[in-house]
Amino acid sequence: MNDAVIAEVSGRVGIITVNRPDALNALTFDVVRAISQQFDTWRDDQSVHGVVITGAGDRAFAAGADITDLQGKRVAEMTDTGMQHWMTVIRESPLPSVAAVSGFALGGGFELALACDIRIATPASKFGFPETGLGIIPGAGGTQLLSRYAGISVANYHVLTGALMSAERAHQLGLVSELHDAADIRDAAIALVQAMSERGPLALRLAKRAIRSSADTSLAAGLELELLAQAALFGTAERDEGLAAFVGKRTPNF
Ligand code: COA
Repeated sequence: MNDAVIAEVSGRVGIITVNRPDALNALTFDVVRAISQQFDTWRDDQSVHGVVITGAGDRAFAAGADITDLQGKRVAEMTDTGMQHWMTVIRESPLPSVAAVSGFALGGGFELALACDIRIATPASKFGFPETGLGIIPGAGGTQLLSRYAGISVANYHVLTGALMSAERAHQLGLVSELHDAADIRDAAIALVQAMSERGPLALRLAKRAIRSSADTSLAAGLELELLAQAALFGTAERDEGLAAFVGKRTPNF
């Protein structure tokens, strides 16, 4: 873990802060690699049940990939592992994740937010993909995820023009689930993950997988996966506890 990425644990919640406020939390390859490695570490750590990603300060969640870092990259680094690979590790992690966006979430910053399961933001936040103005494209999931989550027309508009998207618009589109004042956003994200962490942990993992599969399978295949995931849960102590707690009018203890 380098100084540009701070990892802390509060209760059952892992909190990752991109800590480069002077560069508007621009994401070097090392930063994104460190974030994905932290997800892997926490995946194996039974005490952490979900993750918040945020940026230091309130000017930016992350203003994109670090452009000076990108200047040193050529075809090989962009072809092999790199940003898209690490973002996929985050997106596919069994741990639920919430991006707490205060300020700019641009380029790789928008992609990092889209790699999380849920995004919350301050009303003044701005999302966007400036890449085509730099002679490149959003290459860490942006073209694929924005079109799947908000529609191809929305992706065309923002990727081809570079136009910024307001937090209000992102909220309307369902990209952002909640709006909070800057002073409250971090606590709101922690509360969301804490609330998820009190639900059935296997149910959360399988729900995440089933929902994710809807983006790249047929309806029939997705329904089959959902059916099998549900059937598997019916053989677990977690299901027994969840249903028994409801019937016994008590809080489940997962
Ligand atoms: N990579 C590297 N450094 C970045 C950066 C990035 N993506 N985004 C911002 N910074 C740095 C700036 O170079 C500046 O550093 P300096 O103080 O040493 O000059 C510092 O962060 C503050 O940014 P600045 O541009 O002065 O702030 P601003 O409020 O005038 O503008 C933005 C804010 C977000 C509009 C502007 O910084 C910007 O356009 N950033 C690049 C966004 C981008 O293209 N992202 C996609 C990259 S693939």
